Amino acid sequence: MAAEPVIQLRDITKRFPGVVANDGVTVEVGRGEIHAVVGENGAGKSTLMKILYGLYRPDAGEILIRGRPVALDGPRHALHLGIGMVHQHFMLVPGFTVTENIILGSEPASHGRLDRARARAVVARLCQQFGFRLDPDAQVQTLSVGEQQRIEILKVLYRGAEILILDEPTAVLVPQEVEELFTNLRRLRADGKTILFISHKLDEVLAIADRITVLRRGRVVGTVAAGATKAALAEMMVGRPVLLALERSPAAPGELMLEAQDLTVADGDGRALVRGVSLAVRGGEIYAIAGVEGNGQSELVEALVGLRPLAGGRVLVGGAPVARHTVREARSRGVAHVPEDRHRRGLVLPMAVWENLILGHHRRRSFLRGPFLRMPAILEFGRQRVAEFDVRVPALRTPALALSGGNQQKLVLARELAFQPRVLIAAQPTRGLDIGATEFVRRQLLAARAEGRAVLLVSADLDEVLTLADRIGVMYNGRIAAEFAHGEATPAELGLYMVGTERKGREGAP
Ligand SMILES: Nc1ncnc2c1ncn2[C@@H]1O[C@H](COP(=O)(O)OP(=O)(O)OP(=O)(O)O)[C@@H](O)[C@H]1O
Ligand SMILES: [Mg+2]
Repeated sequence: MAAEPVIQLRDITKRFPGVVANDGVTVEVGRGEIHAVVGENGAGKSTLMKILYGLYRPDAGEILIRGRPVALDGPRHALHLGIGMVHQHFMLVPGFTVTENIILGSEPASHGRLDRARARAVVARLCQQFGFRLDPDAQVQTLSVGEQQRIEILKVLYRGAEILILDEPTAVLVPQEVEELFTNLRRLRADGKTILFISHKLDEVLAIADRITVLRRGRVVGTVAAGATKAALAEMMVGRPVLLALERSPAAPGELMLEAQDLTVADGDGRALVRGVSLAVRGGEIYAIAGVEGNGQSELVEALVGLRPLAGGRVLVGGAPVARHTVREARSRGVAHVPEDRHRRGLVLPMAVWENLILGHHRRRSFLRGPFLRMPAILEFGRQRVAEFDVRVPALRTPALALSGGNQQKLVLARELAFQPRVLIAAQPTRGLDIGATEFVRRQLLAARAEGRAVLLVSADLDEVLTLADRIGVMYNGRIAAEFAHGEATPAELGLYMVGTERKGREGAP
């Protein structure tokens, strides 16, 4: 432990209805330390970080910053004490430049007017000081996810943060971007900054952290130094040994279940986001689309499930074209959808867990008696799904918004896999899930494949894509830039296609 603890959390307890999110948590973090916090979904990581950032008040316990007890009364106060949180859902203004976004809300002024030149110089100096590759004049809408994240970090640094909180920052990054983030974080550490880092990817945690605190069900299991093994960490997290290998049965592709033919999708202004994508997925097959977010995967999926109109081409399910392009039509044809944005598409957050579990399926005969919901049957169904998917909920009547991120994701999966779909379209299905849950979901996808379902997996997680997929299409700039069979590509190769530095195969003229 470094000599000088910058952060001391002592005996922090935070309760929510039906759950103790943090239960006597004690953690110390030194100056110039990268400290990781790991644990299962719902273990209390984000809650602890929100307490440190002044978003939640603890029910009991003490926070000391640089040795002084503080009663944080909001993010503004936290920032004043040098504590900054790097946002995961980027809150940037697309039409603004990098500099404008960084200074937004704390613009340098001279004689009451915005001093652009000075702002630009400050941002350029920050970039140089910490080795951030970023053009201060670039428009945010032209930047990659990794670059946007750099802006979020700089925003916090610009406001004078000495302590940076990053809650699952790598979930949205490709391997090359993770490397670059880590390089940046090491520079910050060398400069004496203190970093709190949350990730479910233990390889990453072991690569970057000086020390690691493991939480389980709200309590600290222990704090270990870098050099721990992945298996040991996993066992501390889960409380039992965790299997880390998946078994994949030999491929047995069947009938064509899902086809996209020359699919084009445009935005409101007629700009093409998906440009002539064709793909075919057979029963018993997992076709994975790898890609950096924002290259058309989301729009492709939305078009396939009837959430977005087609500008051209067609979709076939079970060999027959989809006539009416609606979600209901897709669902009645046996297409299940695990959306990437569970807040907007997957769940109705104020609704109870049981309601979310039958969302879109409440007209099923087994759930109705005449016009009325058969509550005993529905609650029994809910209990089963929640148990099978290990969704950690205080009660079936708890609103979905009170669940941790990972448990919300498990809730969507529990519903979408419940109704025996012919086609399962899963977008980022394990994003934000802990290792146990990730393993479980991957097994579910393999089980769906073994049962002869067609699985279209969209994932930015290359390990996932490489382990599960029979075929991989890399999507870049609205097109499938390259296609690989299982075992044909390495993560690094896929990464190159994902960022557009390599092109191959099926891509049409630019
Ligand atoms: N605003 C809230 N209202 C009610 N319960 C909450 C709230 N925020 C968190 N909880 C509960 O507190 C517990 C800890 O949640 P937290 O978000 O801290 O977990 P986490 O470790 O960040 O999990 P994940 O890996 O899934 O993000 C969970 O049981 C969650 O349901
Ligand atoms: Mg969390």
